[in-house]
Amino acid sequence: MSLRFAVALIGLVALASCYSQQIDPMEAQPKLRPFAASRLFADASAMRSPPAGTVPMERTLDESAPTFNAADLALGREKFDIVCAACHGLVGDGDSVVATKMSLRPPPSLHEDRIRALTSDYLYAVIRDGYGLMPRYSDRLSVHERWQVVAYLRALQLSRHAPIAELPDDLRKQLEANP
Ligand code: HEC
Repeated sequence: MSLRFAVALIGLVALASCYSQQIDPMEAQPKLRPFAASRLFADASAMRSPPAGTVPMERTLDESAPTFNAADLALGREKFDIVCAACHGLVGDGDSVVATKMSLRPPPSLHEDRIRALTSDYLYAVIRDGYGLMPRYSDRLSVHERWQVVAYLRALQLSRHAPIAELPDDLRKQLEANP
């Protein structure tokens, strides 16, 4: 490397570092970095725990036991029919026009044993983040609507796997009379 080239390079690097501090003063300001030690706090750690009761933005307050009523299921159904059914079919069995056009990995039937075994949290995350070839739907469905869709999807899955004995009396009799 010639001397002239080396000098030019050092000059350039020095210039770039001044420039980045000018452009981004936060880069240069005093601050505590994650996992650094700090004398400010009794536990000597720069990282703080969030105050008690803090919840992530994307969580319903009572996520451990969300309760849904018939109105939620109806809204979940409405959203499912609008957003999901185009690919997964109105009853979730993967029978849709779009599915016939997606030859690489078509939308699966949501009644498959593997998908029935997935947790509701996971289903929620599939709607929020997408999965493989399936795009995310977080811009189309609010947090609450995503849970309503999950609840409706659970109801859809149950509809194909409910034991006859668990049906209400009138429905069971109707079915037994006309199998
Ligand atoms: C544009 C078509 C399309 C729409 C709309 C769509 N999906 Fe999907 N979905 C797919 C495809 C394709 C896959 C398989 C992706 C892959 O394997 O790469 C999939 C996979 C899934 C899976 C399986 C995930 C796994 O772990 O195997 C679930 C559950 C699911 N979708 C639920 C939904 C729900 C609920 C909605 C509505 C909010 C929805 N999908 C809307 C195309 C779609």
